[in-house]
Amino acid sequence: MKRAVILAGLVAASLLAAGCGHLDQTFLPTREDKAAERGLSYARNNCAGCHEIGVSGASPRALAPAFGQIRNRFSAPGLEREIEAIGTVGHYDMKPIQVEPSDRRDVVAYIQTLKGR
Ligand code: HEC
Repeated sequence: MKRAVILAGLVAASLLAAGCGHLDQTFLPTREDKAAERGLSYARNNCAGCHEIGVSGASPRALAPAFGQIRNRFSAPGLEREIEAIGTVGHYDMKPIQVEPSDRRDVVAYIQTLKGR
């Protein structure tokens, strides 16, 4: 009986894990990875209006690349510089958006987690 209860719990847990939203399927942060978690919520609030912030999929703004694609285009330091530059001059079709240095690091940490997913 006890075993069955444990088993039912496991099944429920895995169903839960499988059932949560689109984003959580592509990104499951470890508890230690606080910077990436902060980066994800920052991106949800500040970038997701235009970018698909998961690995792939259609961005709300057609020209804005998915963060998974951006991940493959830049090294971490390169991406930090890019986002810093975007803060002053924008990026072609993207208007300048000021990202605080700490938020920048968090967003880059998040985008790094998209590697190979
Ligand atoms: C108002 C819409 C909009 C928002 C909000 C936005 N972006 Fe963009 N972003 C774009 C568009 C459109 C492009 C593509 C520009 C182009 O190449 O013409 C882009 C391009 C980029 C690029 C360059 C990608 C490359 O491969 O060259 C990076 C990096 C980027 N965005 C990061 C961010 C981050 C980080 C945020 C959140 C702080 C953000 N963007 C918020 C519209 C947006």
